Amino acid sequence: MKTLFFLALILLTALALPGAEGKVFERCELARLLKRQGFSGFVGRKVADWVCLVQHESGYRTDAVHDNGSSRDYGIFQINSLYWCDDGRTPGSKNACRISCSRLLDDNIADDIRCAKMIAQEARGLTPWVAWNRFCQGDVDPYVRGCW
Ligand SMILES: *[C@@H]1O[C@H](CO)[C@@H](O)[C@H](O)[C@H]1NC(C)=O
Repeated sequence: MKTLFFLALILLTALALPGAEGKVFERCELARLLKRQGFSGFVGRKVADWVCLVQHESGYRTDAVHDNGSSRDYGIFQINSLYWCDDGRTPGSKNACRISCSRLLDDNIADDIRCAKMIAQEARGLTPWVAWNRFCQGDVDPYVRGCW
């Protein structure tokens, strides 16, 4: 009886985890997903720019969180709680994407993509991302090499 209980528990845990947990994207997996989602040419940038941005912002981890003392960056695109999402503890948060920051940490990045596109559209480029400014100014094509 006890064994059965633990087997059921393990099964339930295994079923509950996907979706709730973060994941680490493969480089080309992300590149292909972004291409399907219309990132090629969006705000005049390439899919390779976004892959470079993600590599240096979050290391492809959907559950990445970075705290700078006054606000936090969430998820694969490191979306900030002062302007874009609400984490309930950033005074003056604009929450322009109308989303809870915690929802940017799971393995479904559809909402992250919607918000990242809003950010890029408003800035007319990728300059809001410090890592893109710092690391993605040269030839970014190697970031999508072998992906298509
Ligand atoms: C933390 O990040 C936010 C958003 O990028 C920025 O406005 C703020 O000045 C930063 N604070 C510190 C202490 O670096």
